[in-house]
Amino acid sequence: MRAPFRVAVIGLGNVGGALARRLVDDADRITMAAGRPIALEGIAVAHPEGRRAPAPLLLAAQLLAQRQLDAIVEVMGGLEPASTYISTALQAGRQVITANKQLVAAQGPPLACLGPLRFEASVASAIPIIETLADTLAADRIGSIMGILNGTTNSILAAMAGGASYADALADARRRGLAEADPSADVDAHDPAAKLAILAMLAFRRRIDPSQIVRVGIRDVGADQIENGRRRGFVIKLIAAATTDDGGSIQADVRPRLVPADAPMARVHGAMNAIAVDAEYAGSLLFEGPGAGPDAAASAVLADLIRAAKDVPASAGSLLATLADAPPATVFPLGPTAQYPAAS
Ligand SMILES: NC(=O)c1ccc[n+]([C@@H]2O[C@H](COP(=O)([O-])OP(=O)(O)OC[C@H]3O[C@@H](n4cnc5c(N)ncnc54)[C@H](OP(=O)(O)O)[C@@H]3O)[C@@H](O)[C@H]2O)c1
Repeated sequence: MRAPFRVAVIGLGNVGGALARRLVDDADRITMAAGRPIALEGIAVAHPEGRRAPAPLLLAAQLLAQRQLDAIVEVMGGLEPASTYISTALQAGRQVITANKQLVAAQGPPLACLGPLRFEASVASAIPIIETLADTLAADRIGSIMGILNGTTNSILAAMAGGASYADALADARRRGLAEADPSADVDAHDPAAKLAILAMLAFRRRIDPSQIVRVGIRDVGADQIENGRRRGFVIKLIAAATTDDGGSIQADVRPRLVPADAPMARVHGAMNAIAVDAEYAGSLLFEGPGAGPDAAASAVLADLIRAAKDVPASAGSLLATLADAPPATVFPLGPTAQYPAAS
């Protein structure tokens, strides 16, 4: 058996905690999958005082200075200092795995130039979409990608369809731990726009600046709109969609859309996510699964860790690296009247 693959994790919150538990509790199964043990050698948190953890607790700077590590997992979130930590690790020759959609959307291409960067957990958690776009479908031509990429707003819209007001549905999502104290990333659609930017870069091989994607959140969805839609056989979903044509023009936006009640996307409930990919040769593909939650996100991080331990190329990172010197594509909005794809 090969020598252990030595990793350290920055962040022991929802995702980092679930990952650390898997690495300890499922060690035998993970060793079989990776062909070698994956050894958790350290964990960095913001507040290490008085904490118990399954590996030595350190500050991030101490952890990054450890020379024996093969990989760093970044599950702390935010742009800085996560970006600096990831650059430091890549420049020191380590592989990096991150779940950070905000960072990958904004800085993925230049970061990926520094070394192997893996980010399967950054979009739709356990749905294996990142390497599917970058590797499995690498030789295909993808014309469109669309989906429900934010479980929090999907839950809020479902509660509103059941008669709750926006304020009550948001308050309930907060009580259930689905919405943050500041819900803007979800309800104003920053989160699904970042995820759509990542997916569109991989699908269309063009650099996308997430701030170029027009966002319409769910704050202004009213009970009358939901009821009108229902009477006509539609449900309202927050849909993130991007298309390209032969000329390379890109249209994308995130906005509430009327979805036919019998379409698969209409039946995506609660905090689930779904992604429909329209590829010229593979055809119409539909992926559905838990888009958030500690175990689902940790499952995607672990998949990346196992690929790293097996020396499987970081296809998605390599693809982003090829876009680093390209100017961001102009992204036109799809607009509210764009036809909803029948297959989705
Ligand atoms: N939660 C999900 O379902 C989910 C799904 C997919 C992707 N993600 C992504 O995964 C990442 C982590 O999310 P999460 O929900 O696990 O976050 P979280 O529960 O807030 O945990 C963040 C962790 O990072 C640590 N941290 C913060 N600043 C730090 C610093 N400067 N140095 C070292 N550690 C630091 C915190 O330390 P303390 O514990 O000491 O405060 C905490 O342990 C985010 O990028 C998120 O977007 C989350």
